[in-house]
Amino acid sequence: MSVNKITIPFLRKMKQEGCKITMLTAYDYPTALLLDKAGIDILLVGDSLGMVMLGYENTLPVTMKEMLHHTRAVKKGCRRGLIVGDMPFLSFNVDSKNAIKNAGRFIKNGGAEAVKLEGATEPILKTIQSIVEAGIAVMGHIGLTPQMVHQMGGFKVQGKDAGSADILIEGAKRLEEMGIFALVLEGVPGNLAQKITRQLSIPTLGIGAGPHCDGQVLVTHDLLGLSEFPKPKFVKQYASLYPLMLSAINSYKQEVLEGKFPSKEYTY
Ligand code: KIV
Repeated sequence: MSVNKITIPFLRKMKQEGCKITMLTAYDYPTALLLDKAGIDILLVGDSLGMVMLGYENTLPVTMKEMLHHTRAVKKGCRRGLIVGDMPFLSFNVDSKNAIKNAGRFIKNGGAEAVKLEGATEPILKTIQSIVEAGIAVMGHIGLTPQMVHQMGGFKVQGKDAGSADILIEGAKRLEEMGIFALVLEGVPGNLAQKITRQLSIPTLGIGAGPHCDGQVLVTHDLLGLSEFPKPKFVKQYASLYPLMLSAINSYKQEVLEGKFPSKEYTY
């Protein structure tokens, strides 16, 4: 299926026609240009930028100001893909009024076309309903929700036993009722993700959730191999850019130290 601009109704059509949806994280202008050129459907300005770009231990310290700064940069490089801004910890959990205001900042000040919120507790469901009623498109996110890292006791696969799987299935259905347009399923068994995907009419996007979701999402830095740190099992690294970059930087350093750069060729 081809289209000049990805819209929310188009994503639903992709699910209906069995056409897989691609989503990747983008935190800056050059990455947005690259992903858009490759025809990635959804560009997620994930709060993972706290760990990937800002060196935080987890996503909890990320602020609205940081998210908006990166969302604006992504907006400049993206024409076709749908831009989704990830609402950081406590930007939506205090009360619905505050949540609508912050979701609105992603749209009005950041240039995002939708926002993503983690969780499906009763208060979060209510908040999501209020944001949707305010006219802002919302993507849900359940399973391994990194903003709940302390409650989960680490970044652990969720929904492994029947009881917790049922809670996730119920949460997914309630989120759809509240009006979300798509749902991220993170760190759940493949058969549970398949069950949820079959029961929803909105698309699911899996990360560490097996092959049966309507689409897949990864952190772009992980798939490009841009870090020296070990990756979780679900990450497929399609390139190893870290050693290439390190080698280029080492070559530059060596040539400067030896007086080889800049040579005549690079001198006015
Ligand atoms: O912040 C993020 O990058 C995410 C994806 C991993 C889904 O939420």
